[in-house]
Amino acid sequence: MIGLFNDERLVGYPAPRGIGFSGLSRKEAQGNIDFASFTCGGCHIGRVRLDDGSMKYLDGGINAEFNVIGFRLRVTQTLAKIYRDETDPAKQQKLVIDAFLAALDAAHQKDANFFYHNYSYENRKFDTAYEQAQIDLFKKQAGTVIPKFIHTAEQVYRGWGIVVNKIYPEIKQEIMQGYPGTEDAIAFNAANAYFSLKNNPLTGLFAPLALPSHAGVTDIMAVWNQDTRNPRWNQDKTDLINGGGQWNGHIPLPIYKNIAAQLTIGFENIDVRVSAFADQLLDKLPSPAYPFAVDVELANKGKALFADNCAACHQPNNGKVYRNIGTHLGRAKIAGTLITLGARSSFTKVCSPTLTVDMNGTPGQPCADYKGVSLAGKKELSMTSPGRHDGYNALPLIGIWAQGPYLHNGSVPTLYHMLVPSERPAHFVKSRLDFDKEKVGFSWDPNIPPNPVRKEGYLLNTALSPALSNTGHDKNIQDGDKTFKLDWSDDKAGAMAIIEYLKTL
Ligand code: HEC
Ligand code: HEC
Repeated sequence: MIGLFNDERLVGYPAPRGIGFSGLSRKEAQGNIDFASFTCGGCHIGRVRLDDGSMKYLDGGINAEFNVIGFRLRVTQTLAKIYRDETDPAKQQKLVIDAFLAALDAAHQKDANFFYHNYSYENRKFDTAYEQAQIDLFKKQAGTVIPKFIHTAEQVYRGWGIVVNKIYPEIKQEIMQGYPGTEDAIAFNAANAYFSLKNNPLTGLFAPLALPSHAGVTDIMAVWNQDTRNPRWNQDKTDLINGGGQWNGHIPLPIYKNIAAQLTIGFENIDVRVSAFADQLLDKLPSPAYPFAVDVELANKGKALFADNCAACHQPNNGKVYRNIGTHLGRAKIAGTLITLGARSSFTKVCSPTLTVDMNGTPGQPCADYKGVSLAGKKELSMTSPGRHDGYNALPLIGIWAQGPYLHNGSVPTLYHMLVPSERPAHFVKSRLDFDKEKVGFSWDPNIPPNPVRKEGYLLNTALSPALSNTGHDKNIQDGDKTFKLDWSDDKAGAMAIIEYLKTL
């Protein structure tokens, strides 16, 4: 319902892909209750349906079905349903605790392996005895854990409402339900910062300043081949160049990019080891090959056109931030001075240059240095200054076939519509799993009936808000005496050749 799926490769795993639980890695099997949380794979593993109906998994790709706001909405709706007419917070809490425990018992009585499916992982068995012990433990802690859960869930969703009122007036209703595959992580975090300022009497008055001034809708990014995004040091080792991170390049250091990811998904205790392992994993994670036919001859023609018109921008380790592409600049401007300072201080608090952690038995210092140069005293490199990231990076386009819809705000359904902007549809269907092999992108045409097996996707109206706008990357760009042709409306054969080549990246 919120867009997470069962990954057939995780045989017997008791939850959908994208949900992890702490029992998998806790030192002592029954040392604590299991906490479930979203994992990187919730957003960064996608799927495409092949011709025979089977799924190809896209590790490091995009789960365009995942609706993280939709999840939060449903939690608050469920709580409201339990409260009914009760308005006294203490009584509301009791109602929720009773309801949770009753549901827990009912499920477990129906099936003694209801929650863990008798799953085993390495040498840990999540069998009937484990499940029973966890339930007993949970019941002991329910009086403290459940109220905390309620408080966080309600505050987070209310915070989102405050942000939405300020920066998404045109799409209030839609964005309070969430757009699958898309989020505004920075605004979401800003809402949390808002509450921590507001709840402190010394800073309460300043809380509104923590709210973002721009709307920053962002599609989930692919995270493979991160080495093509990793920066280099400048000559005197004081600054990072030739790299980027996130759509506007503002978190260049891989370790902080991965820490930001954990902060975004609301990990209460950031585990910097996860970020360090993610760094290792994503550095050379390959993109999946295009699973349908490619016309090699046509692709070769496209390669030459790409070299002439695209490669100067779309190349590995291009740290340049482009401000003249014409796409909506909200995402690029969302991290103003206060948000940037706040982000730097939370990133470096979580992982300071002196922090030592146990990395699989050996001590490691994940934030001590980058490529052999110390990060001590270089806090500002954990997020670049606003004036340096007020535009978008041109990504290397590796595995671009699997990354539709396109642009940072996911407003253009296919590569064809990227290159033939005159035909871009204002409305299209987003987050289907079928593939449009002709225009190259996920099936988008509202006139094509959805896959009969499952009604997939939702209609996105890009005209509703400037933040969803599909304009930009639609006019040729002049750079000195060189013209880059971005609008191929008058040369569709050329566009088709480039698209054929893009399939091979
Ligand atoms: C709720 C969905 C979601 C989850 C879960 C998530 N991410 Fe992301 N990720 C995003 C979005 C959206 C972006 C684009 C952010 C932007 O620029 O605004 C992104 C961007 C990234 C990038 C930047 C890629 C680049 O080329 O610059 C990396 C790296 C990354 N995520 C790693 C992770 C890791 C590691 C985890 C797990 C700890 C994770 N993400 C969990 C949604 C998610
Ligand atoms: C002057 C630099 C520049 C040139 C030349 C250029 N692009 Fe881009 N391109 C960008 C930037 C910057 C973005 C990101 C814009 C955004 O997301 O708002 C982008 C985005 C894209 C995207 C979407 C990427 C994604 O992950 O959604 C595709 C596809 C693309 N360009 C293809 C091309 C092709 C093909 C050409 C050549 C015909 C080309 N570009 C020429 C700068 C350039």
